[in-house]
Amino acid sequence: MDLLARDARTLWHPYTQHGLDPQPLAVVGAKGAWLQLADGARKLDAISSWWSCLHGHAEPRIVAAIAAQAAALDHVLFAGCTHEPAVALAEELLALAPRQAGRPALARVFYSDDGSTAVESALKMAIGAWVRRGETARTTLIALEGAYHGDTFGAMSAGDPTPFFREFGPFLFHVVRVPPEAEALEAALKAQSGRVAGMIVEPLVQGAAGMRMHSEAFLREARRLCDAHDTLLIADEVMTFGRTGSVTACERAGIAPDLLCLAKGLSGGTLPLAATLATEEIFDAFRSEERSRAFFHGHTFTGNPIACAAARASLALMREHQVPARLDAIGSRIESALAPLREDARVRELRRCGGIVALELEAADPGYLAGLGERLRTACRAQPEVLLRPLGNVLYALPPACMSDVEADQVADAISAVARSA
Ligand SMILES: Cc1ncc(COP(=O)(O)O)c(C=O)c1O
Repeated sequence: MDLLARDARTLWHPYTQHGLDPQPLAVVGAKGAWLQLADGARKLDAISSWWSCLHGHAEPRIVAAIAAQAAALDHVLFAGCTHEPAVALAEELLALAPRQAGRPALARVFYSDDGSTAVESALKMAIGAWVRRGETARTTLIALEGAYHGDTFGAMSAGDPTPFFREFGPFLFHVVRVPPEAEALEAALKAQSGRVAGMIVEPLVQGAAGMRMHSEAFLREARRLCDAHDTLLIADEVMTFGRTGSVTACERAGIAPDLLCLAKGLSGGTLPLAATLATEEIFDAFRSEERSRAFFHGHTFTGNPIACAAARASLALMREHQVPARLDAIGSRIESALAPLREDARVRELRRCGGIVALELEAADPGYLAGLGERLRTACRAQPEVLLRPLGNVLYALPPACMSDVEADQVADAISAVARSA
């Protein structure tokens, strides 16, 4: 029986409507920006395999780091044990973390596995730190409209319930949702005074919402208002890490959060690895001579040495190849190629932040479940040489840094063709 038939009998794919979606692409290999399909075709990975592949697939230095680390120390529990890859990576992450004059630096790294667990850790740290200081009324979180922070229960609570999580409403905790406007945020902070554990934000670009973008000025206001109202700012940079023209979106805006979540591109997109960075003040709330005050959170593969080694190789490449600047240049090229579409009445907006380019089409029912989205999916799938996946009525490119100018033009051509056909 061939692979697709075996897949159809056995598997349940993520974010897939098995009653609607076509058979998956059978992928046998990946190199650079290209995926090699079982039928001999190749596709450009224009969306970096769910926003994770930072440099390109099978990047030789990351592959070598993974192989060497797997042979030396594959895994060891991270409670009561430590190792060089985890310590060195933590040092490197703290060195590149966003800084802001007059604010405490991010000083501690807590590892987990993916974006959702990085967010869960941050939320539990924020809430737990308040509780340990005797502030037990801090049961509200502020988040943005359209936010997406992952699929576990805490992350779902922080995320906008529409369109994904409505059915779980009774099981999600209390969140006040605001648009990315300083006045709305200030009003919410005032109304919830003394009850806010923190504000969580996908800085500059809200990915799953359809690559929605807000200003650096809003982020600076969010930082200022969280300080003024004595609450914590949690930056979810799971998607934006390396992609916005700076190492972090917070750095681009000139702010430092109290908690910072990283995943996806952290390992260069090769292995599941996440990190939640916290200030020493938050860490100190849990440090005690009483065991009961510890942070009781951890996952089997916390601090996995192979994933940490991959991340160290990825960070070295990021520095040496100036990945944020390269992605910015690729994004700029794709945006320029798509610019003529701005004149098309069917186009609502063409927007870009660093290496992230989004083309939003007019739709009667905009959003992830837009009717137009189904037509776009079909048209994307029909693109012979480029892998695209719309977010409802939004087409976007989020390429890896190895993408050449010719390949970037190919991606722009494919987006343009899909937009015109649908
Ligand atoms: C901003 C943001 N946070 C969290 C997540 C969840 O990450 P993961 O899918 O690795 O759990 C995502 C995933 O798309 C994301 O974009």
